[in-house]
Amino acid sequence: MDETLRTPVIAGNWKMNMAPPAAVAFMREFATRHAPATDRTVVLFPPALSLWALKQALSGRGDIGLGVQDIHWEPDGAFTGATSAAMARAAGARYALAGHSERRHVFGETDEEVGRKAAAAAAADMVPMICVGEQLEEREAGRLEEVVLRQLDAALEPLGAEPGTLAVAYEPVWAIGTGVTATPADASAAHAILRRRLEARYGAERAGGMPILYGGSVKPDNAAELLAADGVDGVLVGGASLEAESFAAIAAAG
Ligand code: PGA
Repeated sequence: MDETLRTPVIAGNWKMNMAPPAAVAFMREFATRHAPATDRTVVLFPPALSLWALKQALSGRGDIGLGVQDIHWEPDGAFTGATSAAMARAAGARYALAGHSERRHVFGETDEEVGRKAAAAAAADMVPMICVGEQLEEREAGRLEEVVLRQLDAALEPLGAEPGTLAVAYEPVWAIGTGVTATPADASAAHAILRRRLEARYGAERAGGMPILYGGSVKPDNAAELLAADGVDGVLVGGASLEAESFAAIAAAG
C-alpha cells in the first residue's frame, strides 16, 4: 500500500483480548475520547475475529486505522486456524504486524516466516509493520545490533528493492508486558541502528516515509517522553491499549 503515514503513529496491539462485543464497546468510548486528528496516525490491532465488528463500529471514523496481528503467507488452502492476508484486508485491516515477539518466541516463528508474512501483507495491499527486538541475554551479550538487523533484513528481503509503505516496530523483548520500559536513550540508540539500515537499503528519502515505532510497556505516563526521543516515530502499545481511556491518553501524547 502506498499511503503516507502521518507521524507519530500510535498503535494498539490487543493481543488475545477483546471479543467482538468488547471491541465495539471500546470503539464507542474511544471515539468520544479521541477526536479525529490529522497530525498523527492511530491504528488498532484487534484479534482477527473482532476485525469486522470493529470496522463496522468505526462508523465514519476513517482516521482510525485497523490492522491484523498475524497472517499466513499462503493466499488460501488447508491451513486450519490461519487467517490469510486477503481475508484480513477484506475484514477492514490496512496494516499487518509481522514478527511480533510473541509470534517469534511463543509460537516459534522464524525470520524467514516473518519475511513471507510481511510480503503477503504488502501483496494484499496492507502496510506491513515489522517487529524486531532483542532478548535480555542478547542485549547483555552486546548482540542488540546483530539481532535486530538480522530480523529486519530477513523481513525486508522478500519485499524487494522498492517496497511500498512499511513501518518497523522496535520492541525489546525484556520490555514487553514487564512494566520495564526502555529509556528514551535506549530506544533512540536502537532506532538509529534500524534507521541507518533502512536508509542504506532504500535511500534517505524513501526510508524517511517508513516510521519506526517503539513498543514495550508504553503507558500514559511515559508515552510523551518516548515519543519525544530522537528517532522514535510512534509507539506500539499492548496492555495500555485495552482501555479506551489510557489509549486515548497515549494517542494525545507527543
Ligand atoms: P506491552 O506490549 O505494552 O503490554 O508491553 C507491547 C507489545 O507487545 O506490542
